[in-house]
Amino acid sequence: AKVLVLNGPNLNLLGTREPEIYGSTTLKDIEQMMAARAKEAGIGIDFYQSNHEGCLVDKVQEANHHYDYIIFNAAAFTHYSIALRDAIAAIDVPLIEVHISNIHKREEFRHSSVLAPVAMGQICGLGIESYMAALEAIIYKLKK
Ligand code: DQA
Repeated sequence: AKVLVLNGPNLNLLGTREPEIYGSTTLKDIEQMMAARAKEAGIGIDFYQSNHEGCLVDKVQEANHHYDYIIFNAAAFTHYSIALRDAIAAIDVPLIEVHISNIHKREEFRHSSVLAPVAMGQICGLGIESYMAALEAIIYKLKK
């Protein structure tokens, strides 16, 4: 089984970006933690981050038939990218939307996700453990 972890704009700056909201862990740290857990569970895992909407659309399209699950923190694109929503709707790979912060208790414009209706589910507000929880859910589902 294979999992693809996608991260959108500004998440390459994790660790130094608004640490009071996003913490001090870097994206590389998160990816290493996820890779270790995936290895332990005997599943493959790939990572991709981009600040560009079209590059993320390309990755979502390419993931079809190549991955069993996608974990996606689309960052700001979550709130307005119909292109990403349509790409997710176009593929057969179940996708878990994740956010580090609790988008529902932040600014009004973060409360809605245009991706959520085409995602399998959403995990937010657990800090970087949002990613780990998504991976854990996938490991659990793959074992069943
Ligand atoms: C985020 C929440 C988004 O509103 C924001 O634009 C981000 C990060 C999160 O992980 O909490 O860049 O997706």
